[in-house]
Amino acid sequence: GSISGGCPFHGSVQTRSLFGRTNRDWWPDSLNLEILTQGGKSPDPMGEDFDYCEAFNALDYNALKADLTALMTDSQDWWPADYGHYGPFFIRMAWHAAGTYRTGDGRGGAGSGQQRFAPLNSWPDNGNLDKARRLLWPIKKKYGQHISWADLFILTGNVAIESMGGPVFGFGGGRKDVYEPETVYWGTEEQWVNEGVPTRINPKEGKALDNPLAAIQMGLIYVNPEGPGGDPHDWEGMARDMRETFARMAMNDEETVALTAGGHAFGKAHGAAPAPTFRKAPESEALELMGFGWLTDPEEIEKGHITTSGIEGAWSNTPTQWGGNYFRLLFKYDYELVKSPAGAWQWQPINQEYEDMAPDARDPSKRVPTMMTTADMALKRDPEYRKISERFRDDQAALDDAFARAWFKLCHRDMGPKVRYLGPEVPAEDLIWQDPVPAGTTPSQADVDAFKAKVLQSGLTVSELVKAAWASASTYRNSDHRGGANGARVRLEPQRGWKVNDPEELDKVLSTLDGLRGSLSMADAIVLAGAAAVEKAAADGGYPVKVEVTTGRGDASQDQTDVDSFAPLEPFADGFRNYLRTKADVKTEDMLIDRANLMGLSVPEMTVLVGGLRALGAVSGNSGKGVLTARPGVLSNDFFVNLLDMGTHWSVVEDSGEEEYVGRDRKSGAEKWRATRADLIFGSNSQLRAVAEVYAEDGNREKFVKDFAKAFAKVMDADRFDLTYAKYHK
Ligand code: HEM
Repeated sequence: GSISGGCPFHGSVQTRSLFGRTNRDWWPDSLNLEILTQGGKSPDPMGEDFDYCEAFNALDYNALKADLTALMTDSQDWWPADYGHYGPFFIRMAWHAAGTYRTGDGRGGAGSGQQRFAPLNSWPDNGNLDKARRLLWPIKKKYGQHISWADLFILTGNVAIESMGGPVFGFGGGRKDVYEPETVYWGTEEQWVNEGVPTRINPKEGKALDNPLAAIQMGLIYVNPEGPGGDPHDWEGMARDMRETFARMAMNDEETVALTAGGHAFGKAHGAAPAPTFRKAPESEALELMGFGWLTDPEEIEKGHITTSGIEGAWSNTPTQWGGNYFRLLFKYDYELVKSPAGAWQWQPINQEYEDMAPDARDPSKRVPTMMTTADMALKRDPEYRKISERFRDDQAALDDAFARAWFKLCHRDMGPKVRYLGPEVPAEDLIWQDPVPAGTTPSQADVDAFKAKVLQSGLTVSELVKAAWASASTYRNSDHRGGANGARVRLEPQRGWKVNDPEELDKVLSTLDGLRGSLSMADAIVLAGAAAVEKAAADGGYPVKVEVTTGRGDASQDQTDVDSFAPLEPFADGFRNYLRTKADVKTEDMLIDRANLMGLSVPEMTVLVGGLRALGAVSGNSGKGVLTARPGVLSNDFFVNLLDMGTHWSVVEDSGEEEYVGRDRKSGAEKWRATRADLIFGSNSQLRAVAEVYAEDGNREKFVKDFAKAFAKVMDADRFDLTYAKYHK
């Protein structure tokens, strides 16, 4: 009984594409702007020179908050505020903006204002949030470049909570808008959530939630509120789905209970209109609706006959006032299963007293029964959730604190290190999920040079040094700005034990560096040692180069490192080091591209790095795969030269699952090389081959070395927000 927004996509897909279904699949006929963004032409009207962080710092923050507070109760005829207050509606908008975040790849989240674009703008779970964004437009228009949509969504959620007396922990700004939909893997299903569409977790069929997904069905933020697959009787399944999906957002049981109950202290669900009045989602609606979807007749809207989720009613008798009524009502009454006017399953208190009923959303003189969704009921039925719920029922201060903190985490989880938060309301307290790193000190050039010289005398090989530096820095993800070399977490659990890092070799390298580093931080030492190795390798190849890396990193302690929260950063595949844990249902070369994207690399950067790392012999397990050179450890373009050499004939190694290839001399048949998909893709794919050719050219040997050194330094420094953001904190 929920909004049906998905255009079923018909077509047979044999192998799972890395990004699953994309906007092109859902809306094959929608306007294609891609031809205008070809050739690297950005759709961003602000241009490259625009510095959002600077613009945000110049924002009149208090004036904006005052305007937002006034907006909360400035009801508009075209979409009147329930109870005369838009606060709850805006909280749901902010929650759904942030709630797409998943720990698996760090993608999703509120960071770039993606709720404005397909597919998120049309997901059934985001039903009617198009109206919430339009209500904000006059304010966005007024403050313009000083507040991004991405920041505005979250700040509005905060102001909404505050304006209804709720607790808030703080706000960090600095989310820069993008102007195009991001390509994210949201799943492979042909249909969005709807009756009859199978859910992603099904223990009977042995089906677990595919990584990195964090919702139970396409088109949902987390779970189906009516129950797993719409079944309100499956209590255990409901709690299981909530636990699993919230964990994928890095939320534990206490945070899950606090967030859900805290959120539903406010507002109401909408299912007053029967199903036939539903219309299409924004992305597939008629032109003259100007980007709106799900439209109902204006007279029905006026009367409050609106259907969003299909569930109808408020959770609390005080839906625009923060307090303990949600838990009070949850525990005070027994509930019976009923259907909403729109036909959705929901739970209604049995024999509810008049005073416990909620006001009618349009007519405060009337009272109507409250309700709970099956998801809310799980907070009472699941034994673990229940313990927490009872504690919160009896201790309002504990709920206040837990809700405020969990909301802050929800909204800031994808922003990376705290230095990236801007504005007057950034909380002073450091939080473990921010992956804190103590400030480092910048060593003198003399110390740096002396250390690099000692490293090259230490007996460690170029490959060992480069691998350690790569292991340290390459965890960085541009999606949620986590990972990277700062903090030297590569020497801590869990990273030090990751198979891709060749733990024994890594341990040996790190202890040697530790003995040589003097006053340098370990984090700097690891990066500088890698840089020294690359410089030596370049000189050995006849093209000396300087690897321009920064210093001044700090070392994090094990206490400052949440082992569980770092676990998802472990690579399943790392094409840069020719590593694959086990054969996956996604192509290995797709995973290389995915990783390059997470590291913020361009096609040439990815290409030159793979070729260079292979030449340096920096492959996981020292398998030799892809090391297409007779002189490993020398920085040469041999990888590209040999890959494109017509004297070699490539064939699949039997039983390798098409993961390993052998290169033989075309004439003699003698084996020359072993390689993987992550190698041959640079000869097989026409676009990558075009780039590989550039690096194989005789005249480009020096260019290759320079480009490699630059891209390598970029990866080493990718997480230095402590440096790049310093200017915004003056
Ligand atoms: C509304 C489900 C978690 C805040 C709703 C609605 C549903 C729902 C079905 C009604 C939408 C409509 O018809 O208008 C769920 C489920 C959750 C969950 C299944 C997790 C298991 C949260 C969280 C928050 C939140 C974590 C915020 C911290 C809200 C608010 C509304 C709402 C404020 C009211 C919106 C309005 O009055 O227009 N939720 N929700 N929910 N949700 Fe949640």
